[in-house]
Amino acid sequence: MTDADLRLRELETLHELAHTIANSLEPRETLEQTLKVLIDTGWFSCGEAFLKLEGMLETVAVGLCGYQNIEACQVRPKLLRDAERVMTGNKLTQVNHWQLIPVDNMAVIALSGGNASSPFFEALIDIIRAALKRARLHWRLSEKEIQRSKLLQALLRAQEEERGRISRDLHDQVGQALTGILLGLDAAINHPEDANLAQLKELASITLGDVRRIALDLRPSVLDALGLEAALKRYTREITERYNIQIEILVSVPKRLNPDEETVLYRVAQEALTNIVRHAKAKQASIVLTTTSKWVQLVIEDNGIGFKLEELLAAERIGLTGMRERVELFNGNLSIESSPGKGTSVHARLPLRT
Ligand SMILES: Nc1ncnc2c1ncn2[C@@H]1O[C@H](COP(=O)(O)OP(=O)(O)O)[C@@H](O)[C@H]1O
Ligand SMILES: [Mg+2]
Repeated sequence: MTDADLRLRELETLHELAHTIANSLEPRETLEQTLKVLIDTGWFSCGEAFLKLEGMLETVAVGLCGYQNIEACQVRPKLLRDAERVMTGNKLTQVNHWQLIPVDNMAVIALSGGNASSPFFEALIDIIRAALKRARLHWRLSEKEIQRSKLLQALLRAQEEERGRISRDLHDQVGQALTGILLGLDAAINHPEDANLAQLKELASITLGDVRRIALDLRPSVLDALGLEAALKRYTREITERYNIQIEILVSVPKRLNPDEETVLYRVAQEALTNIVRHAKAKQASIVLTTTSKWVQLVIEDNGIGFKLEELLAAERIGLTGMRERVELFNGNLSIESSPGKGTSVHARLPLRT
C-alpha cells in the first residue's frame, strides 16, 4: 500500500469514527463505538478503553477483542494500572504490545494487534475528546435530573410527614383539650356549685396557645399582612419564649419584597431556626436580613455545637437540601458553614426582582 493509500484509509476511518460517535450521548458507549470502528476497519485487532467519570472513583473499562466483549477476555488489572498512569501523564505510551492513548483527563484507549501513524492518533484524540465532552455533559445533566427527582420525592414525603404531624397535633392536643373543656362545661352546667371554671379557663387558654403555634408553623398570617420582617420577629419571639434561646434580629430592607421571595426566605429562616432548636444546643442566634442593589440576603447564625456537613448522607439532610432547592428555584444560592464546636451559619441570597 502506498503512502497516499494509507493516508486515504486513515481519513476514511476517522471520518467513519466521527460520524459514528457524533450522536453518542453516553461516555461508555462513545468509547465502545470507537473501539468497534478501529477493529472493524482492520486497524487493530484488540482494544480496551478506560473512562474516568466525575464523582465516580473507579475507572470504568470497556473493551473489545475481535468481536468478543472484554469481560469475556477478562479485564487486565495491569493494563488498568498502566492506563491510570498514562492518563495522569497525558502522553501516548507503548506498554508491551499495547498502544495507550490518553484523551485529556477523561479516558485512555488501549489498542493492540496493529499500528497507525501519529497524525492519525492525534486526529483520533481530537474526535474522541469532542465526543466525550459532549457525552459527559449530557451524562452530568441526566445525573442531575435523577438527583432532582429523588429530591422531589423526598420533599413530597417530608411534606406528607409534616401533614401527619400537624394532623396528630390537632387531634391529640387540640382535640383532647377541647373534649376536656366540653366535659368540664357539661359538668359545670349540671353541677354549677362544683364547677372549677378557673381550671377550664386555663385549659382553654393553653389550647388557644397550641392552635396559634400550629397556625404559625403552617403559615403565619402576619407574613401576608405585614411582611417578612414582622413574621420573622413574631417567629423568633415565639422561639425565645419557648426554648430560651436569645435571638438577635436585624432587618434592613427598604420596602416589602415580592410575596414569593418573602415565603422562600421565611421558610429558610424557619428551617434554620428549627434546626437550631433541635440540634444546635445554642444559647444565642442571630438573623440578619439585608439588601444590596441586586440581592436580598438572609444570614442565620448560632453559637451551638455545629456539625460536619460532608459527613451527612443525602437522606439525613432533607431539611438542608430543601432549603437550598427552594432558594435555587428562585435563582438564588444558599451556603451552609458549620464545624463542630464553632456553630453554624446559613447564608441565603435571592436576586431582587425589580
Ligand atoms: N444549626 C445546627 N446545629 C447543629 N447541627 C445542625 C444544625 N443544622 C443542621 N444540623 C445537623 O444537620 C442534620 C441535617 O439537618 P436537616 O437536613 O434539617 O435534617 P433534620 O433537621 O430533619 O435532622 C441534622 O440532623 C443535624 O445533625
Ligand atoms: Mg431540619
